[in-house]
Amino acid sequence: MDLKRILELDKKHLWHPCSQMKDYEEYPAIHIKKAKGVWLYKENGGKILDAISSWWTNIFGHTNEYILKRIKEQLDDLEHIIFANYTHTPGIILSEYLAGLFDGKLARVFYTDNGASSVEVALKMSYHYWYIKGKTRKKHFAYLRGSYHGETLGALSVCSIDTYKKIYAPLLPETKEIVGPNCYRCSYNLERTSCKAECFEHAEKLLKENSETIASVIVEPIVQCANGMNMYPPLYIQKLKLLCDKIDVHLICDEIAVGFGKTGEMMASPVVPDFVTVSKAITGGFLPLAAVLTNDEIYNTFYAPYEEQRAFMHSHTYTGNPLACAAACAVFELFKQTNVLQEVKEKGEYIRQNVQPLLEHHNVGEIRTIGIITAIELVKNKKTKEAFSWKDRIGYKIYRNAEKQGVLLRNLGDVIYFMPAYIINKDEMDFMTDIAIQSIKDILGDK
Ligand SMILES: Cc1ncc(COP(=O)(O)O)c(C=O)c1O
Repeated sequence: MDLKRILELDKKHLWHPCSQMKDYEEYPAIHIKKAKGVWLYKENGGKILDAISSWWTNIFGHTNEYILKRIKEQLDDLEHIIFANYTHTPGIILSEYLAGLFDGKLARVFYTDNGASSVEVALKMSYHYWYIKGKTRKKHFAYLRGSYHGETLGALSVCSIDTYKKIYAPLLPETKEIVGPNCYRCSYNLERTSCKAECFEHAEKLLKENSETIASVIVEPIVQCANGMNMYPPLYIQKLKLLCDKIDVHLICDEIAVGFGKTGEMMASPVVPDFVTVSKAITGGFLPLAAVLTNDEIYNTFYAPYEEQRAFMHSHTYTGNPLACAAACAVFELFKQTNVLQEVKEKGEYIRQNVQPLLEHHNVGEIRTIGIITAIELVKNKKTKEAFSWKDRIGYKIYRNAEKQGVLLRNLGDVIYFMPAYIINKDEMDFMTDIAIQSIKDILGDK
């Protein structure tokens, strides 16, 4: 079928995610025929550099040969089986790798098949744990302002980004929002590198006052990715962990976006929480998979004779899919083969240095970096940090401009960021940052 016909069918039948479909009149979906490394190849010969690792998943490059080989080998043996009462080798091997992420302290692994569903599992397990313990009033969850944990109704209830949540708010269970860290616009006038996480006082107050009814608090450790790559000090999480232990509230660290090296560490969380959710980069961007990790004490609370009805009755059809587990095992093996984390830190620093001159630009409010992530926050007024009106769609215009020049830089509001695959080379980093700088100047002027 020729490309024109294929694209007509896209227009006729498809409803793309996270999109106003009317925008597709001006910018029809871009058809990608194949991909290799950081490059996406269009049918007509053009190519685009994937600066955002395809929604933060593709850490070792597209069609990575090692991961591909492991999936193909698995495909010859077993494509999928029910994971209740049945098991398979890639699922088991992977569980051992995952148990090692927190030195064996979170050694129980519950698989799901996407990020939001793993958040649902962690929330349900937390509530259910307290229920078994007789603390039945603990049925609320707390989260940080600016957080994003997925878009199914339970996960959405602990999100705070209006774009995703506002319209559905009447459908959601009651949750508590904590005024969380916002380091670029710190209301204490402190710096994230030297503060003592003074803003933690909001969490302390809310959690102490509501500890009888709160089952758990969920956070994205160190970086709130969907919230414009809002980076904050690890000390905040350390304080939170100490408090949670004291007041009998579970801590859930959502590592779905930041896990697997994005911050320069394998996991971003500086503490061992009660639950961890992982997904996205776990399969190197090849197949959908997620997992919830927890400790033996929580697991054993559910472990009882059938008649006691304490089982965790939750499932997703593609839970622990063998192909996805084989891909994830390959990802762990790749981490073992080279010093990936060191490379992540060096490349992140290189990207930051490339865009550093942009700080002179009158609309660049902040450039922040951790690991492979560098984010450029664009503001209307640099002095007051006043944001552009959302209606101006500044970030979106830059994203579209860069795309025409060969770089996929999907914006987060007026934040432009880089989160490329770790295998990106120097020439590719130069190309990526040159086009980003040019696109910012094309939309906002040279200075
Ligand atoms: C921190 C975090 N949690 C959860 C999710 C939801 O994952 P999924 O899109 O696989 O449902 C995301 C997705 O971006 C995320 O960034």
